[in-house]
Amino acid sequence: MSDTSILSLGKGLELREATGDDRAFLFGLHRLAMREYVQATWGWTEPDQQERFRLNFEPSRIQVLVAEGRDIGALTVLRTPKELVLGNIEILPAFQRQGIGSRVVRALLAEANVRRVPLSLQVLKTNPRARALYERLGFRQISETLTHYVMRATGPVRATAATAALI
Ligand SMILES: CC(C)(COP(=O)(O)OP(=O)(O)OC[C@H]1O[C@@H](n2cnc3c(N)ncnc32)[C@H](O)[C@@H]1OP(=O)(O)O)[C@@H](O)C(=O)NCCC(=O)NCCS
Repeated sequence: MSDTSILSLGKGLELREATGDDRAFLFGLHRLAMREYVQATWGWTEPDQQERFRLNFEPSRIQVLVAEGRDIGALTVLRTPKELVLGNIEILPAFQRQGIGSRVVRALLAEANVRRVPLSLQVLKTNPRARALYERLGFRQISETLTHYVMRATGPVRATAATAALI
């Protein structure tokens, strides 16, 4: 049983392990989802970004987010005995702001809760919308780098009546 099966995302949403065949989709997704924030931090030069992506591409670490049978995003989670780390989450713009990202992060919070470990992540300082989302979900800033805020959520998942059904 793979670790990803621990995540229960609710109706119509699932994860599958990425393969080498997903590379073009995943780079296109990365460009659509992250270009604005990468551009504002380091600048975005297409050949450089393609090369960086190629060098770092490890499909075994990536899960593709599938909604109603369609690939719509990607998720990378590192699981250690001491913590879960949300390494990356990207959703196609057409599927953003529909509650999907919140469902995924809440499922990870629930898993961290079961494992009794914190959930950590880093968010670019140029990405205030994502930071605000994480704050709403219970994350607090614990440190920062030149480019990123480091955030962590500990303790029980904050479940409201509306979200309890999702976790
Ligand atoms: C950040 C990200 C993963 C969040 O996922 P998402 O599915 O868009 O998030 P949600 O829909 O759960 O919440 C985001 C917003 O949608 C709103 N929202 C939630 N459900 C909604 C719905 N049913 N209808 C309309 N809006 C909704 C939320 O209030 C929230 O508002 P905000 O934009 O003011 O923050 C996604 O937007 C994304 O991929 N962004 C680009 C890449 C990125 O920034 N990745 C994070 C790197 S750390």
